[in-house]
Amino acid sequence: MSHPLIKVYEEGQVGVIELHRPNVLNALNRQMVDEIVEQLEAYDRNTDIRVMIIKGNEKVFAAGADIDEMMEETPLSMELANPFAVWDRMTLIKKPLIASVNGFCLGGAFELALHCDLIIAGEDAKFGFPEVKLGVMPGAGGTQLLTKVIGKRQALEWIWLGESFKADEAKSLGIVNRVVASELVYEESMRFAQALAEQAPISVRFIKEAVHAAEDLSLMEGMKLERKNFYLAFDSEDQKEGMKAFVEKRPPHFKGV
Ligand code: CAA
Repeated sequence: MSHPLIKVYEEGQVGVIELHRPNVLNALNRQMVDEIVEQLEAYDRNTDIRVMIIKGNEKVFAAGADIDEMMEETPLSMELANPFAVWDRMTLIKKPLIASVNGFCLGGAFELALHCDLIIAGEDAKFGFPEVKLGVMPGAGGTQLLTKVIGKRQALEWIWLGESFKADEAKSLGIVNRVVASELVYEESMRFAQALAEQAPISVRFIKEAVHAAEDLSLMEGMKLERKNFYLAFDSEDQKEGMKAFVEKRPPHFKGV
């Protein structure tokens, strides 16, 4: 698979996708989003990989969707090209996704980070939706994803004003999991990812499904899904191993089956 706009590498059981259009602050054009999603799906199928990280470079995560590519669009050209359909596929990824953010994380890039399960940010990170200043609005899920995290009033303030917010403020609103010194963002993201890769993969997968479902399902429906996943976990070798290791007072060795 050729991916000129992203770099792809692995560290142990962690798959890393690095956005790579440095001349335009990693602006996300359609090809780049296609490449990201194809690679996420490839990692999701790869049994050697347990966690994925999406990162930019040390200076910028990404400055949003590619404005040059978008500016001549018409409603019909977008209806026919259906550029956001590929984003829906991100919601189907089963393994944990971590966004590792330095610098600007704006517009479509903020949407990309919000599609991830966890966000680790540097003190230099700046989050926001500047679309209103371009005469448009978020289109890759921003109004929905941000509102689910920070609530309606705060989301309206962020999206209406189009300003950038610092990592600390994003952390205080629950958007970001951890804020660390800018030069330690990737290290901390990798540390977090490696710790997650040590956990029983089937448990991690079922937990992700159940926690995400909590945003859409009623309490009773969510509890039913949780229970089903709890029962299903007992079909795994890792459940036997985890409980046996506890009884034998030794660390478990999980295989993901
Ligand atoms: N699309 C295309 N090119 C972009 C870009 C973008 N989103 N953001 C930056 N660039 C390009 C600039 O045009 C510039 O290219 P040249 O050197 O060829 O002129 C280069 O990247 C460097 O950018 P700046 O000179 O502007 O860098 P700066 O440090 O002065 O400013 C910035 C940084 C404040 C992030 C500024 O670049 C900026 O405001 N970018 C646009 C941010 C934005 O509006 N994002 C939302 C896009 S719309 C969207 O994302 C819709 C959606 O929901 C899907």
